[in-house]
Amino acid sequence: MTDTPASTQGTTNPLELTVIPSTPVIGAEITGIDLRTTLTPQRGTELRQLLARHKVLFFRGQSTNADQQLALGRSLGSILRFPSVRGEDPAHPGIQIVDNSEEPARRPDGGRYTGGWHIDASGLVIAPFASILRAVRIPAVGGDTVWANLAAAYEGLPDDLKRTIAGLYITHDVTRHFRERGIDYPLLAHPIVRTHPETGERVLCVNFLQYPQIVGWSAERSAELVQQLKEETTRPEYQVRFRWSAGAIAIWDNRAVHHYGIRDYGDFPRRMERVLVAESHLPLVEELT
Ligand code: SIN
Repeated sequence: MTDTPASTQGTTNPLELTVIPSTPVIGAEITGIDLRTTLTPQRGTELRQLLARHKVLFFRGQSTNADQQLALGRSLGSILRFPSVRGEDPAHPGIQIVDNSEEPARRPDGGRYTGGWHIDASGLVIAPFASILRAVRIPAVGGDTVWANLAAAYEGLPDDLKRTIAGLYITHDVTRHFRERGIDYPLLAHPIVRTHPETGERVLCVNFLQYPQIVGWSAERSAELVQQLKEETTRPEYQVRFRWSAGAIAIWDNRAVHHYGIRDYGDFPRRMERVLVAESHLPLVEELT
């Protein structure tokens, strides 16, 4: 694999992998790989290196099935089963369904449903290191996904904000989601700034969809800081937006980005399937209950 400079120029390595950065800050489209076949350990390592560098990798026209998606996950780490909102494919444990088609058009308060910036499963002891999202049924237009680089966002913070958040811990409350599913799971606090284990970058870790609360701060003060961090971490300069096409797959480094699925497709059906990949074996949720 060639270490691709942050330019729009694609490069080909000896194994025909072509890497075309989507922006200088985040994202790359990869060609020359067939994700329906089992990856060699060398390919798995290459993908992990590319993930560390570009944070989100896009693969078009793969037409992978659920078993192949799971095998891809296993070539990068261990599959993490997590009781997601829409549930799991019973025929393929580890495949999470992402499909809003049964949701009413409006929320109970009358507002329109929208996406939300989040990190996958950040309320767990150790969040999954990667997520793999596969387009199963997509609208003709709309339903794009956006990711933002949380290392770039940290690096771009003003010095006084960096000083304010240094040493702070934050909770992401997965407990209520789990409780609804009969699972008892503790409320955990994590450092709000983490060091990425592979790149050494400092990374912000706030999951805006999972009731973030700064430990030891009043709810009001915490909400103000969280709002400030939301503005910082969602700046267009740190983002990449992917227009899905049939058979496309995205893999992202869940320790380095947050993401947002855009709900602009009305009643059109959109079904994605997601696999979470853990660094090493983590206790499965069912083992903790
Ligand atoms: C997700 O939130 O993990 C899926 C994003 C999407 O549906 O685009």
